[in-house]
Amino acid sequence: MYVFLLTSSTRHWVDVMNARRLSVPQIRAMKRRRGDAALTMVTAYDEPTARIVDAAGVDMILVGDSVGNVVLGRPDTLSVTIEEMVHHTTAVAAAQPSALVVADMPWMSYHVSIEESVRNAASLIRAGADAVKLEGGMQRVSVIEAIIDAEIPVMGHLGLTPQSVRAFGGFKVQGKSVEAAHHLLSSAKAIEAAGCFAMVIEGVPDVLGTEITKASTVPTIGIGAGADTDGQVLVLHDLLGLSGAKPPKFVRQYVDLADIATQALKAYVADVHQGAFPDATETYSASEELTTHLQA
Ligand code: KIV
Repeated sequence: MYVFLLTSSTRHWVDVMNARRLSVPQIRAMKRRRGDAALTMVTAYDEPTARIVDAAGVDMILVGDSVGNVVLGRPDTLSVTIEEMVHHTTAVAAAQPSALVVADMPWMSYHVSIEESVRNAASLIRAGADAVKLEGGMQRVSVIEAIIDAEIPVMGHLGLTPQSVRAFGGFKVQGKSVEAAHHLLSSAKAIEAAGCFAMVIEGVPDVLGTEITKASTVPTIGIGAGADTDGQVLVLHDLLGLSGAKPPKFVRQYVDLADIATQALKAYVADVHQGAFPDATETYSASEELTTHLQA
């Protein structure tokens, strides 16, 4: 018994030592210096998409609450629950990616009380996330500190934060006035001081993305924040042409996968209609005895 325990635990530590998964300190240390390659983050919501994203060599997979509008057909992210985020995080983690897995804390999972926020963050870690992401600036400092105090790494998210869509009156670029830009700069400093290991900067003028990046000692990951942030993040379905709607200005769509998939499915429908699928190689054959018996 003792030997078995020793062996399995040794194996566990060999696995841990060999793990290729990027860690939070490694990402934290990848603050871009002139000439360094930028960090990459892409969303995934299930095991197959996590496998595809990971095979491309991205640094971080974001289990975004964008699952609400991107996958579940809802108008925005506000209806996404912590249970749904746990469900999708478990699926992404099942891919055992090399990329760091960051899971979004959905709206109202970190707004009610510190205790509830820490428990919700822990449920995402137990589902397989390496870190959690939450939206907001100075008003989030105490909750960020409490989650980090529970040994859970936190990524911040500033600018056009989708959970604030009602408060903003729509998906509007943020930080456009001098005052609003200074407010976002102060928010970036506040969440960095609270302990965030990185922060997403979304939907701000490029010069503000640059200045927040210069002012921060942790990596900034931009989405619609210009080319100077320390990294870039995109929603997988936008990048692959699977979103259905016209993607926002800041998206580069690399392929029209929806069209490719529709063509493939049309070929399948035609093959079935014409009796061309399945053929003999796609069918299980029976023994002569069974065939004779059944056809007698
Ligand atoms: O949920 C999400 O996909 C995000 C990205 C837009 C950064 O938070």
